[in-house]
Amino acid sequence: MKTIAVIGAGTMGNGIAHTFAQSGFIVKLIDVSEKSLDKGMATIAANLDRMLAKGTITQEDVAKTITNIITYTDIKDGVVGADLVVEAATENVELKLNIFKQLNEACSHNTILATNTSSISITQIGSVVAHPERVIGMHFMNPVPIMKLVEIIRGYNTSDEVTKIIMDLSEKLGKVPVEVNDYPGFVANRILMPMLNEAIETLYNKVAGVYEIDTVMKLGMGHPMGPLQLADFIGLDVCLAILNVMYEGFKNPKYAPCPLLVNMVRAGKLGVKSGEGFYDYSENKKAEKISKQFI
Ligand SMILES: NC(=O)c1ccc[n+]([C@@H]2O[C@H](COP(=O)([O-])OP(=O)(O)OC[C@H]3O[C@@H](n4cnc5c(N)ncnc54)[C@H](O)[C@@H]3O)[C@@H](O)[C@H]2O)c1
Repeated sequence: MKTIAVIGAGTMGNGIAHTFAQSGFIVKLIDVSEKSLDKGMATIAANLDRMLAKGTITQEDVAKTITNIITYTDIKDGVVGADLVVEAATENVELKLNIFKQLNEACSHNTILATNTSSISITQIGSVVAHPERVIGMHFMNPVPIMKLVEIIRGYNTSDEVTKIIMDLSEKLGKVPVEVNDYPGFVANRILMPMLNEAIETLYNKVAGVYEIDTVMKLGMGHPMGPLQLADFIGLDVCLAILNVMYEGFKNPKYAPCPLLVNMVRAGKLGVKSGEGFYDYSENKKAEKISKQFI
């Protein structure tokens, strides 16, 4: 594998592009507008600078990583010649099915098609392409350049061969891949999201404030970040989408999203990416101060 196409240059897509490019792969980064691509590339540059300042990479690594990434606004142009496509667009089932239908037309049948979805069925995504045995979940964690885990999700039709290729590839990126099966939320979010939702419910019920809830979980449970701050980092829209997939998928009220979360997403308060969630990130410095703890 040499060339990887990454679809979506948002929170996860730019991290995935960064990680592959830093490991020497040619990355074709695709998003719907130049503006989104510029924002993604600016984030990659800022994260590389931070790693350089910490001494974890060299100036040469920075330059190579940036040159390994080429940007595209057209999906067909972007996926030409890719050995692997990693889709990391918005968490929306219709949008992802539409992207995979386009990939089915634009890519050769040998191209492995991975999705970074947090919760949408890999089997359902695979159902819209010929040869669904090449469709697999490659669920990176945020921030991608730092977090070691990749949850590898086998759809109903995913082949052993494709699973092995993707497990080996994840190791080449310096990650630890873990193989799981395709049920709503997989493993990571099936366990994490009910906890984040419960923290939001605790706030909604006025049991305690944002600072108090996060401090209890940080200092009392040894979590590196409180659940409300983590929800802001993940994106409240992403959290809501994942909870809804689990709620529908299991038909179980324990996954019902808290009304406060629903309201905040409706109001456009999406966390770090919109400048406000449970915390205020409106002053650039403030948001930067928080993200610096993790990169
Ligand atoms: N945020 C997290 O912590 C996290 C963690 C693991 C997995 N994920 C998953 O990763 C995926 C991306 O999430 P995110 O947080 O990066 O979202 P995001 O909103 O930050 O970015 C999504 C990007 O996709 C782009 N996009 C939308 N439609 C597109 C299309 N048709 N073609 C190309 N690009 C398109 C958008 O312009 C945007 O730049 C989702 O499936 C999400 O569930 C998110």
